[in-house]
Amino acid sequence: MSATAGERTSNKTDVSTRNTFSIAPSILAADFARLGEEVDAVLAAGADIVHFDVMDNHYVPNLSFGPMICEALRKYGVTAPIDVHLMVEPVDDLIVKFADAGATYISFHPEATRHLDRSLQLIRDKGCKPGLALNPGTRLALVEPVIEQLDLLLLMSVNPGFGGQTFLPYVLDKIRAARHLLDEKQLSTLLEVDGGVNLDNISEVAAAGADTFVAGSAIFGASDYHQAVTAMRDKLAHL
Ligand code: DX5
Ligand code: ZN
Repeated sequence: MSATAGERTSNKTDVSTRNTFSIAPSILAADFARLGEEVDAVLAAGADIVHFDVMDNHYVPNLSFGPMICEALRKYGVTAPIDVHLMVEPVDDLIVKFADAGATYISFHPEATRHLDRSLQLIRDKGCKPGLALNPGTRLALVEPVIEQLDLLLLMSVNPGFGGQTFLPYVLDKIRAARHLLDEKQLSTLLEVDGGVNLDNISEVAAAGADTFVAGSAIFGASDYHQAVTAMRDKLAHL
């Protein structure tokens, strides 16, 4: 049974306390032949969230992995939050499958569903935390009607479909606008930036208002994961 309007949860908070940052390595850049070990290694290196990129070769021109891999990571013993980023169309079937497979956060692109509110409610009904992902060229205004329902707002800083791309600087303005909107409404929604985030730009991205940083090639492409994560944390500690 889906919740009535009155029962919908609110994530209001006191924004002046916002000072925590989360690092979310994207396993799209990991060695798939040793995926469990790779996830253990980045979490041991100090990462907070496992970013799980789902590509269907339809919504995006690439194919990655499905719910059975998420389930395998849970069975392997991963207890950290798994942040499932659905770059698929349609979304509802995979929302159910990933929720059953142990996802924590599930985000999708608003263009990929006909019923935005219903798909968000489905994620919440399945006991997961709903999020929306916006492509670089998509306006922030699209999420405003449902912003209070989001536990996560993901702003793409590359066009979705591939790791290792270059960060698009014009997205910084959208990050600032999103931070302003969340603070204005006193929402504790995570503001996540995804695509081309690395040591050279993480300070600027954080200064614009992001608090959650997806990094694929900048972490899994490094020879020392601990050094890569610690260097990012140092930058975030000295904004
Ligand atoms: C791209 C994905 C990203 C990507 C990030 O469509 O959503 O999560 O894997 O990888 P990097 O950090 O290498 O850009
Ligand atoms: Zn992603």
